[in-house]
Amino acid sequence: MTTELSLSPDALTGLLEQARQDYRDLAGRGLALDLTRGKPAPEQLDLSEDLLSLPGGRYNSADGTDVRNYGGLQGLPELREIFAEALQVPAAQLLAAGNSSLGLMHDCLVHALLSVLPGAESRWVEQERIAFLCPVPGYDRHFALCERFGIDMIPVPMTPEGPDMDVVERLVAEDPAVKGIWCVPKYSNPDGACYSDATVARLASMTTAAPDFRIFWDNAYAVHHLTDEPVGIADLLAACAEAGNPDRTFVFGSTSKITAAGAGVAFFGSSPANVQWLLGNNAMRSIGPDKVNQLRHVMFLRDAEGLQAHMERQRALLQPKFEAVARILDAELGATGLATWTSPKGGYFVTLQVPDGCAKEVVRRAAEAGIVLTPAGATHPYGDDPRDAVIRIAPSYPGLAELEQAIAGLTVCVRLVGYEQQAR
Ligand SMILES: Cc1ncc(COP(=O)(O)O)c(C=O)c1O
Repeated sequence: MTTELSLSPDALTGLLEQARQDYRDLAGRGLALDLTRGKPAPEQLDLSEDLLSLPGGRYNSADGTDVRNYGGLQGLPELREIFAEALQVPAAQLLAAGNSSLGLMHDCLVHALLSVLPGAESRWVEQERIAFLCPVPGYDRHFALCERFGIDMIPVPMTPEGPDMDVVERLVAEDPAVKGIWCVPKYSNPDGACYSDATVARLASMTTAAPDFRIFWDNAYAVHHLTDEPVGIADLLAACAEAGNPDRTFVFGSTSKITAAGAGVAFFGSSPANVQWLLGNNAMRSIGPDKVNQLRHVMFLRDAEGLQAHMERQRALLQPKFEAVARILDAELGATGLATWTSPKGGYFVTLQVPDGCAKEVVRRAAEAGIVLTPAGATHPYGDDPRDAVIRIAPSYPGLAELEQAIAGLTVCVRLVGYEQQAR
């Protein structure tokens, strides 16, 4: 929540004048800075440079399969073994697929529309209306997939422990059109929230009106820690099985922000029935994944410990950037009462909350001063943040000096727009 400090008219005039002067200085500097997308920085990609010279003449997987040839739809077992623990899916129920987990989410939606899911009475395309619960703030590309396929989106407020489960439980119990929920359970995009054990237990055991309800568990940041205290979350797949809802969860993940974004490996994990369902559908889409890339990931990461060590190197590059963001926001906005922000323990984003009605204007003013931010509203279904208060900051890509300039500039815009609003 934003706490507005009560200012005397004279004090407000002074602060507004200062903010206007700071903004003129900022705009005069001819900046061209970009804080939009959560992409790894070049130095992060350099950490995986050796990957690109692998497999280096070796073409056989552990069981002797020639990875250059067709087949092996489920992906290399040894790669699935490496990621089983991080994604909390037994290797036998994990699928190593193409280069994009978003692509897998897209395909799961298409297959659910066009083929009968385990437990479903009919294909989703035959239903009059399909809806998904969308915890907000959330990931814009999840929302774009819903729009693409005509799936209604129902916003559900996020809490620091995950979506507001009272709201979720009520909506899924009363409406059979609600077929799914988007979840980024660890270091969530964009607010960094981690789902509590209680949230996971309630998701697993809640009563749903739709027999074919699915949790799209997008664990994109499962190993992307930013502190010495890695956050662990409860095992949703196991909890669903224990609660008698074994087919409720689709787990997704990828190495996009581990090795190479767009040239990594994506994973899908679920119950045996769901895995068979997806494999059957995928068999018509492709004769097999890129096993050469999978083998090189096995050779590069080696094992679960190798994965952890690699993520420590990623953290060494990312943590100073997140610390710089926190330091500058605190120094420039901490005493103003104009904003609050998240302090994520992992992941790729910081969420900045400005006074209601100010986010779009802050983003516009920042753009005019040469600092491009993710459009305000992108964190909500249909691009509509009803309070116009949430701004997503992506600190990963710019160099540290550029990032510091951009965040300092952003704070000027927050002061300008916030004090202008108060003065009206
Ligand atoms: C929550 C979340 N899921 C998925 C993705 C994209 O993953 P992939 O590159 O595996 O398609 C991102 C990328 O920013 C993300 O933030």
